[in-house]
This record gives sequence, structure tokens and C-alpha cells, in this order.
Amino acid sequence: MTGAPLHAASDAASAAPPAWPIAALQQALAAHLPGGSVEVLERIDSTNTELMRRAREGRCAPTLLVAEQQTAGRGRLGRQWLSSPGDSLTFSLGLALAPRDWSGLSLAVGLSVAESLQPELPASALPLKLGLKWPNDLWLADDRKLGGILIETASFVLPGVGSGFPSSLWAPAAAAAARYVVIGIGINIRPRDAQGLATPPACLQDIAPEMDAPAALLRLLAPLLEGVQAFAAHGFAPLRPRYAARDLLAGREVLLSDGASGVAQGVGADGALQVQTPAGLRSVTSSEVSVRPRASAAGEAPVAGAGADAGAADDSNAIRAATADHPAAPQSAIE
Ligand code: BTN
Repeated sequence: MTGAPLHAASDAASAAPPAWPIAALQQALAAHLPGGSVEVLERIDSTNTELMRRAREGRCAPTLLVAEQQTAGRGRLGRQWLSSPGDSLTFSLGLALAPRDWSGLSLAVGLSVAESLQPELPASALPLKLGLKWPNDLWLADDRKLGGILIETASFVLPGVGSGFPSSLWAPAAAAAARYVVIGIGINIRPRDAQGLATPPACLQDIAPEMDAPAALLRLLAPLLEGVQAFAAHGFAPLRPRYAARDLLAGREVLLSDGASGVAQGVGADGALQVQTPAGLRSVTSSEVSVRPRASAAGEAPVAGAGADAGAADDSNAIRAATADHPAAPQSAIE
């Protein structure tokens, strides 16, 4: 499937839709990924699907692909990602990468986005702190989901010298392990119809009323590129203290998909969730994690659901994060 193009950066002379600062986005991209291109599409099935399709065809140039509308947006674990034009920012960044260790990439991405969109943590933590719900979600501290991240990888043949792929993107010894990674990000920008939900999902305008999707993308792109490059060079470990400042699970009771429960104790150097259970400290790399809503009465069971993703029947009061974020080796979906 090909999308309906609004603008490609190579058409610099044609009139760009004023809403998308294509030239500035292109400049930010090129500063980090020489030879990269920016495309804004009016409509496509899914920006992740499209970049993965291209990668399978051998088209692995660095690309920022933005869609004003996705007709088949995807979330983690086969879920749908629902969004309506103008109300959301939906984009994918595709690039070749070869970090020594892929563990924690989605945490690094989420952290970068959260810090860009809310550089200063609000003095009072609740409810407007923009934080992270391990491993892939952006939440407000009132337990409403604001956005999500879907990372997928495809095998990648290292192009020849001079191909525009900077060697800084991978650890020297790991060049052979380079993969094309597609980092898909969906962010609710404007309040959306609650559609019968008890509580609508969070949106960026809850914390930044003036911000629209183009402004948000411009704000977050350069730091995201820097963050991904820093991750490739140094891994997740140096980000741990900053992640802790945004960690919305820390100290909270969580339920794992195997039925175990415990108290979340932050993340390890590899980004694995640390959970203190009655049987001891568990390092969780692949599990579904439900959290008890903050305001719930004692004895009430944690509720499953999701924010803006989920197979439509999302109950945004409740939170279920799913995960398989920390593969020992790269796999096609880093969920
Ligand atoms: C999740 O919370 O489950 C992850 C949601 C990721 C949604 C984004 S929107 C842009 C990109 N294209 C997709 O189809 N999905 C990601």
C-alpha cells in the first residue's frame, strides 16, 4: 500500500501544508541522519507497516514518516491503535541501528519523548506529570494514557561506504548486527470523544494547551534522534536516573500476567522492571503488567484495559501495559 502524499522533503519547491514544518523537520533529521528524508502522508494504513514493507523491499534509508490519518494503526501485541485526523500525532522513524544491546530501547525512546514534551516536571506530581508506564507507554500521573510506542526491527544489509549511513549509529564491533529499526510513536494531542468510556484518554493539550501535532513533532524530533544515537552508543544504563524521575510504576502494586504480584521497584540497568514479590525480587523482561488504579478502594482488583490503543474497547481508567521489550537479541517486534 502506498499512502496519499502531502509532501516529501525532496519537493522543497512545492507548497508544503503550512501546518507541518517540513523544512525544519528535514533539517533536524539530516543533522543526525545524513541522507534521511521526511514524508508527511495524508493517509496510510500504518506508518510502521509502511516502513517495514519498505525495509523488506530493501529500502532502508533513514526516514521520518508522518501520517495525518492511519487506517490500520497498530499497537503492541496485535492491538489496534485508534486515532482520528488532527487529534493525534502518528509517525514512525526508520533507521539502521546496531546497539550492543537492544534492551531498553523503548524506555529510552519514551523518556526522550516525555522529556521533550514536558521538560520541567510539575511541582506537584499529580495529575499533570508526564511519565512513563513500563515499558512502552506515555502516561499522565493520573493514570491516563497519553501515547504509546511500537518498535519493530527488520534485518538489514549494511550498505557500502558513502551510502549516507553514519557509522556513529552502531558500535564498531556490532556493525554486522545492524538492523533496520522502525520506531512508531502515537500521541494523543487533542481531547478525544470518550465514546462511552468512564474517562477519556489523556492528551498533550491537557498539559500544553497550545501545542498541536506539528509543533509536538518538531519539539521532540531532534532530542529523539540524539537519544537513539546515544542509546546505540551507551545503552540504557546511563538513562536509569532520568527514567526513575518519570517512572509512574515505582512503588505501586503490579500484577504480572503469570499471576504473580508485587511492588514495582524501578528498572534495572537493562531496563527490566524490578518487582518485589513475596518470593523475592523479580526482574521482568516480558510480561503483561497491570497496575491497581491509584484511587481504587482497598480490595478492588486491578483492572485491565488501555489508554489510546487497545482493541477499541479501551477503558482508559485502567492500565495494562504489555511488554516484551527486552529481547536478548533483536527480534522483529520489540514490544
Ligand atoms: C501501543 O501503545 O500499543 C503502541 C502504539 C503505537 C502507535 C504508533 S502510531 C504510529 C505508528 N504506526 C502504527 O501503526 N503504530 C505506531
